[in-house]
Amino acid sequence: MTHKIVLLPGDGIGPEVAAAARAALEAVAAEHALSLAFSSHDFGGCAIDAHGDPFPEETKSACLSADAVFLGAVGGPKWDGGGPRPEAGLLALRTELGTFANLRPITLFEGLEALSPLKPERVAGTDLLIVRELTGGIYFGNRQEGDENATDECAYSRGEVERIARIAFEAARGRDGRVTSVDKANVLATSRLWRKTVIALRDAEFPDVELDHVLVDAMAMKLIERPSAFDVILTENMFGDILSDEASVIAGSIGLAPSASLGLTHGGLFEPIHGSAPDIAGQGKANPIGAILSAAMLLRHALGEEAAAATIERAVSKCLADGVNTGDVGGSATTQEVAQAVCERIRAAA
Ligand code: NAI
Ligand code: MG
Repeated sequence: MTHKIVLLPGDGIGPEVAAAARAALEAVAAEHALSLAFSSHDFGGCAIDAHGDPFPEETKSACLSADAVFLGAVGGPKWDGGGPRPEAGLLALRTELGTFANLRPITLFEGLEALSPLKPERVAGTDLLIVRELTGGIYFGNRQEGDENATDECAYSRGEVERIARIAFEAARGRDGRVTSVDKANVLATSRLWRKTVIALRDAEFPDVELDHVLVDAMAMKLIERPSAFDVILTENMFGDILSDEASVIAGSIGLAPSASLGLTHGGLFEPIHGSAPDIAGQGKANPIGAILSAAMLLRHALGEEAAAATIERAVSKCLADGVNTGDVGGSATTQEVAQAVCERIRAAA
């Protein structure tokens, strides 16, 4: 069976890191006898330039018929003036793919402890996954805006909580088997529904997964006191927005961090968490590791190729431990050199 992968390289450093991700996928496909078919499409600012639309019809139909979509990054000062915005394409793409779950792993790689703003002994061994609900809660509730009074409504249904919790429990089964659900159940009605639903689902379908609950304010502290204590962190939209930004600095460089956005109807969207970094675009300085690890998530979550995903992740760890790094991680290697070093370790490992 051939897996169809759509690449949306995008703008700025997007094409540079997307090329690195593709190289890693091709290397691992050769070692694991996978058949991958790639096609690249205009998306974001470059699509505005070429078609006047950040998300052209041709790109949309390719994404909808793909097994997985990989995105580099979009945006830049060129499109900040007025007219259509690249980010509008991103919102439309997420809507089309129905992605309600955002997965962000935070890994402190061996040898890179000194990069973290936290003390090395606090961060050592950190390997957690934040699972954030993405399409409900206060960001999507009813709103009333006046000069004297304003209201933002937070709503969740049991079904919305159940489907995101299921993704967290399933992810935990492939990791350490522990889920920490974050809410504010001492105050919010939505949080009490959240907690009740998560407990019921665990009892009914995931009795093998360990579950605990932490209030969001306490979690903000625990995350920097002892990030290595957590495995999967499950939370709603706004809490997840805040906690995932807090957690993303733990590993040291934004260039290292991958993400996945999953739904039920399509394979999902995989992208590094960084933007188009116009300040370093075209100079070979972009760290490709976040993109390469996003490609590993694509193999795991969209294609079910766990062994191939793990091969990429081991190759990345090895590459970082061997000191082949871009400037943001204190090295002097170029984007391509890091990508090549990862590919060599993929071939050596498999
Ligand atoms: P950014 O993530 O592009 O850059 C922030 C800083 O981190 C810059 O100094 C950059 O050089 C550095 N950096 C980012 N990725 C790196 C990598 N792989 N290797 C080494 N250094 C890296 O965020 P910024 O500057 O706020 O936004 C730039 C543009 O990207 C804007 O137009 C913004 O709208 C867009 N953006 C797009 C996103 C997406 O496509 N999902 C996400 C965030 C921002
Ligand atoms: Mg945020």
